[in-house]
Amino acid sequence: MTTRRKLAAGNWKMNGLAADLAEVTQLAQAHPAPGCDILLCPPATLLDRMSAAARGSAIATGGQDCHARASGAHTGDISAAMLVDAGASHVILGHSERRADHGETSAQVLAKAQAALSAGLCAVVCIGETLDQREAGETLGVIGDQLAGSVPEAVTGDNLVVAYEPVWAIGTGKIPTLEQIGEVHDFLRKDLVARFGETTGNAIRLLYGGSVKPANAAEIFAVANVDGALVGGASLKAADFSPIIAALEASQG
Ligand code: PGA
Repeated sequence: MTTRRKLAAGNWKMNGLAADLAEVTQLAQAHPAPGCDILLCPPATLLDRMSAAARGSAIATGGQDCHARASGAHTGDISAAMLVDAGASHVILGHSERRADHGETSAQVLAKAQAALSAGLCAVVCIGETLDQREAGETLGVIGDQLAGSVPEAVTGDNLVVAYEPVWAIGTGKIPTLEQIGEVHDFLRKDLVARFGETTGNAIRLLYGGSVKPANAAEIFAVANVDGALVGGASLKAADFSPIIAALEASQG
């Protein structure tokens, strides 16, 4: 059986100023030798300083997006190499807010993921259905298409993480039933094994994301094939994120 090291990932979205770096120091002190991986993805403006604040700790840092090109005339965009230069080891790609706000397609996410891999980053590729799609019974079809379309060929358990985030669960306080989470994660695992083979398919970590809180973390982490969480709102404060990390450590077994 494959043992996947669990991952607690925080997505700060468009939140965080210099004063909030104190949360990172607190989190690092609370988890000096964690039994899971910890990742924080701040806005680009904070990445360099957060990476410095986290240096020597168990906390890794990541970007929230990157451009598919290595450099050039792309005003406002950030390349994968720039994220690495700012201390990042990971990058979130294809978050539903970027798919919705910026019209990102799976083909674009795939190109970004290729750029991330080339720069040595681990890509955290996000997929998830809308409420309409869930109610129409389209969830697995939508997710299968997004996975096939967004994940490049050259992936391993070290350079790809897949985050299942139902759009309707993000920032709403609603979560799917544990059966629904389990159904999707089992589907994703089978899909990855079918495409990449047993070894790689079983090594890639699958995160659940959408309204993960200290109060619901343990039950979500007990679901098979849930290897951690991508956490938005509850990752901003060490006091909220720390018990989620503790729940994940406890689930490692
Ligand atoms: P949330 O966001 O935890 O605030 O629901 C999750 C995400 O969008 O990654």
